[in-house]
Amino acid sequence: MDWTRTVWVVTGASSGIGRRTALDVAAAGATVCVAARREERLKSLVAEMAGADHSYHVTDVSDRSQVRRLARHVADRHGRVDVLVNNAGYIGPTGFTGADAIEEVDALMATNFFGAIYCTGELMDLLLESAPSTVVNVTSVAGRIAAPGKPAYTASKFALVGWSESLAATIRHKGIHVASVEPGFVPTEGFPQSEMVKDPLMKRILGTDAMVSKAIQDAVKKRKPQRVVPRAYYLAQIPEVVAPRLWRKAISKMTGLRDAGKDR
Ligand SMILES: NC(=O)c1ccc[n+]([C@@H]2O[C@H](COP(=O)([O-])OP(=O)(O)OC[C@H]3O[C@@H](n4cnc5c(N)ncnc54)[C@H](OP(=O)(O)O)[C@@H]3O)[C@@H](O)[C@H]2O)c1
Repeated sequence: MDWTRTVWVVTGASSGIGRRTALDVAAAGATVCVAARREERLKSLVAEMAGADHSYHVTDVSDRSQVRRLARHVADRHGRVDVLVNNAGYIGPTGFTGADAIEEVDALMATNFFGAIYCTGELMDLLLESAPSTVVNVTSVAGRIAAPGKPAYTASKFALVGWSESLAATIRHKGIHVASVEPGFVPTEGFPQSEMVKDPLMKRILGTDAMVSKAIQDAVKKRKPQRVVPRAYYLAQIPEVVAPRLWRKAISKMTGLRDAGKDR
């Protein structure tokens, strides 16, 4: 894909899917501003990206004042945003023990859900000025089907999917496209998928960061509302509706629900 003369802002770019996406779109001609909390990672990423106009901004997306500074940086340095990729996120706690676990849920929502809202909100003026523009929210298959043992993560992604879909319809007439890109299991630093990587059968259903990067670019180029990666995971939604009991058994095996259950 050719992204010449487009400006991308990618959050959570210091590793995994965000890093891969930044490298890929820079190689295809885009100017990219990358954001995350680890400065050294961002610095070396900018040095590695093809092209000269890229920038980085150290940003904790869960902190609105830091996101406001990111938006100011993007306006001053790049003057436009064609694509915002809200990708920053983490898996967070397993299980839910009670009152002592509420702060962990707050923190997870602050990054995985509110982080995307803050970035979209603070960059909205630039997105409007740059229209037609796109917001890609990197949600998850767990934003459509509950991930066993991960109620907080599931909630953050269900919330983000819902927000994406409604926002898409709300701002479409202003020339801003909103897409939900929904990865399945993709081995990365924060999501190592350790059990699946070791299992010869399960290994086959793993995605890659490069596949997600391509899906993000597809969603922008073709103005797709939703992209599931790998695509076969679309089918996962069918058994959940048709045979929920069987489905729960199957995913319990796949995701280690039994181990998670022991924590409760
Ligand atoms: N890999 C999978 O299987 C999978 C499946 C479904 C959905 N996803 C989603 O894909 C996205 C990317 O995940 P990944 O697999 O690429 O994981 P990753 O390699 O762990 O990358 C996560 C990125 O998010 C950044 N981040 C975390 N908290 C942040 C915060 N408060 N502010 C700013 N940046 C923050 C991290 O950078 P710093 O630590 O430097 O801030 C890192 O760059 C996440 O939203 C995740 O939920 C992944």
